[in-house]
Parts: sequence; C-alpha cells; structure tokens
Amino acid sequence: MEEFHKVRRLPPYVFEQVNRLKASARAGGADIIDLGMGNPDLPTPQAIVDKLCEVVQDPRTHRYSSSKGIPGLRRAQAAYYARRFNVKLNPDTQVVATLGSKEGFANMAQAITAPGDVILCPNPTYPIHAFGFLMTGGVIRSITVEPDETFFPPLERAVKHSIPKPLALILNYPSNPTAMVATLDFYKDVIAFAKKHDIIVLSDLAYSEIYFDGNPPPSVLEVPGAMDCTVEFTSMSKTFSMPGWRMGFAVGNERLIAALTRVKSYLDYGAFTPIQVAATHALNGDGSDIAEVRSVYHRRRDVMVESFGKAGFEVPPPAATMFAWAKIPEKFRHLGSLEFSKLLVEKADVAVAPGIGFGEMGDEYVRLALVENEHRIRQAARNIKKFLSTADETMHNVISLNAHR
Ligand SMILES: Cc1ncc(COP(=O)(O)O)c(C=O)c1O
Repeated sequence: MEEFHKVRRLPPYVFEQVNRLKASARAGGADIIDLGMGNPDLPTPQAIVDKLCEVVQDPRTHRYSSSKGIPGLRRAQAAYYARRFNVKLNPDTQVVATLGSKEGFANMAQAITAPGDVILCPNPTYPIHAFGFLMTGGVIRSITVEPDETFFPPLERAVKHSIPKPLALILNYPSNPTAMVATLDFYKDVIAFAKKHDIIVLSDLAYSEIYFDGNPPPSVLEVPGAMDCTVEFTSMSKTFSMPGWRMGFAVGNERLIAALTRVKSYLDYGAFTPIQVAATHALNGDGSDIAEVRSVYHRRRDVMVESFGKAGFEVPPPAATMFAWAKIPEKFRHLGSLEFSKLLVEKADVAVAPGIGFGEMGDEYVRLALVENEHRIRQAARNIKKFLSTADETMHNVISLNAHR
C-alpha cells in the first residue's frame, strides 16, 4: 500500500538510527554518555516549579486555557523584548504564546504556505525549519548558514531563478547545529534584502540566552522596519531549562502573528493555565535563573573543548547554544557522519548527533550537546581518546578499506 502523502514527506529521523544503537548498547549494560539529543538535563528552577504547584491547586485553572496565551504571559514576553532588545511589542497583536517554539514554527509554516511555495532554508539546520514547510507542500531551497558576505549571492540567485519567487527566508542564530552567531549588521542586510524582494523573514532565536562570550545575541527585530516582514520565535526550553513544559513564543509582524493565531485557534486551547502562569513568573524574574543556566553550559563548554582537544578530537569553542559542532577527525571523515556516530556508540560508549541529520551539508560534522555533567564529559573525552588511539590497529579494515574507495 502506498504511504500517505504527508508521511512520505517525513522520512524516519536519522537520529533514530543512533538512538536505536544507544538503546541496545544500554540494554547490554554499556554506560553510554549521551551528547546526542539537545535535551536539557538541568532541573527547572525551583521557584518556577513552586509557582506551578501553587496555581494548579485552583480548580479554575483546570479549564481550557487561552490558545494565544493568557494576557499576563503575553505582557511578560513583550516586557522581555523591551528589556533585552529594546524592541517594543503590542502584547495583544504582536505576541502569541506557542506550545514550544517548534510548534509555533510548524504552525506558522502551515498558516502561510501554499503548495509549491519556495522557502529559503539554511543547510545544515534544525530539522523543523525544512520539514515544517515540506509537510505543508512547500519547496525548500537550501542556502548557506554562514552569516557573512557569502550569504547573499546565493539569495540573489534564488530570487532571480526560483519560480515562484521565494515566500520566506529562515534564520536561526545562534544556530543549531553550527552554533554560529549573527551580528546586528548582518540582520540589517537581511532585512534590506527581504524588503527589497518582499520576502517574509522567520527567525528562530531559541538560544537567545545561551551565550558565553559576554555578547548577547541580537534579535532581528532590533533592525528598524524589520517588524514589517518578520516574525521571531523564542523558547523557554533552554533559557529556563523547561523543555518538557512546552512553552515558547512568536512575536513580530501583526499580519503574520494573526495568521498563526488563527491556525492555532482551530488546533489547540493553549498550554495548561498553571504552566502559563509559572512561565509568566519565570519571565518576570530578575534574570538570576537564566545566568545560572548559562554558567553551567559555559563551564561544560570549556571542559569539552579542553578535554576533547587533548583527546585528539578538535572541538571549536561555540560562542553560544548548548552545542559544539565538530569536524569528524580526518581519518574517519570518509565514513560520513552517520557511520562515524554509530562507531562512537559501539566503540567509545559516546552518543553524538550525526551532522547529516541536519542536512546534506552537515555530513562532515557531528554535533555534541552539553547535556551531561562535567565529569561525564571528561569521561567521554577519555573514551574517545582510547578509541582514536587504538583505531589504527583495531579498525584497520574500516579505516583502510573505506579510505581506498
Ligand atoms: C533552533 C531550535 N529551535 C527550536 C527548538 C525547539 O524548542 P522548543 O522546545 O521551544 O520547541 C530547538 C530545540 O532543540 C532548537 O534547537
């Protein structure tokens, strides 16, 4: 029987292959150090959990909630943008709460895309950026992820040669998986380009608060006039270590926010009210929770860069995000990222995310998530050191046979 139209557009997650190996190694007793999935391991700050527990006692909060987010929550998100980016938002028309930023992004794709619409999407990137649109019948045109002068010539070509002309451009800085960051000057050029060609800009700013070099990532909405064509998505998952709570936001252009709000009003009743109240409490906090989360990732980053480097696996220090994006050591590169990731599970008890899972341009890389503690990151480095130093003898066949292909 032929597979359903939509399901055919959703091939099995590449990461599943590594996950399956990981599960079977664990079932066999192996202690796998999991740097694969970007699933924050830190507990949500206690005051946020306490707020949830308090509010849930009130039966009035057990009813259906508000799909676009309770007013106080939308006001808190607008206040965050004012404080952090000096961007003024109308909480009634320019802010909508989403069930995590992933849901918001996917439903925005649903709201704005007609079959055959062309979307400019970085490669490699977080999978929903492409699949959100592929599910709705959109067509992806890959662009480079580097936020520098190499970014624009392919965009100009895309506008000139795509039929129909591209509908939207996706940005994601700090980038998952590459950890690249963008400057405000880059965003100014992006907005000028988008306005010139009448293209919608969708910016995924999930890592707005996870940065390490004292340099907070800007919002594209800081660019004067960006509001005319832009929506930006943020997430509480990483900022407050609340991934399971499913709370995020879309903010920006009123017409786009209204389109997303309309679609969502047909699909959901919003997050559980106690979650929305606790999220409001978190956003209105003094920022100390965020600073604590950031400093944990910072220390882990430093430990990873140092210990992996010493182990012979060079990891460039990411300036932001909870990921490092590392080139596969030379002698394994020909294997491709999936085979290399499988080898790491089988021979080094370390799980990573193969770069190919983020797009074809990622295949020479693996992504390492900072979701294990410092001690276990050092242990992963020791395992990898052993793996790399014995590979020439123990995996003679794997290395040399493939190298000669
Ligand atoms: C770039 C990016 N966007 C969105 C998300 C999803 O976040 P949320 O939990 O808010 O749906 C992630 C999660 O890893 C991410 O890396």
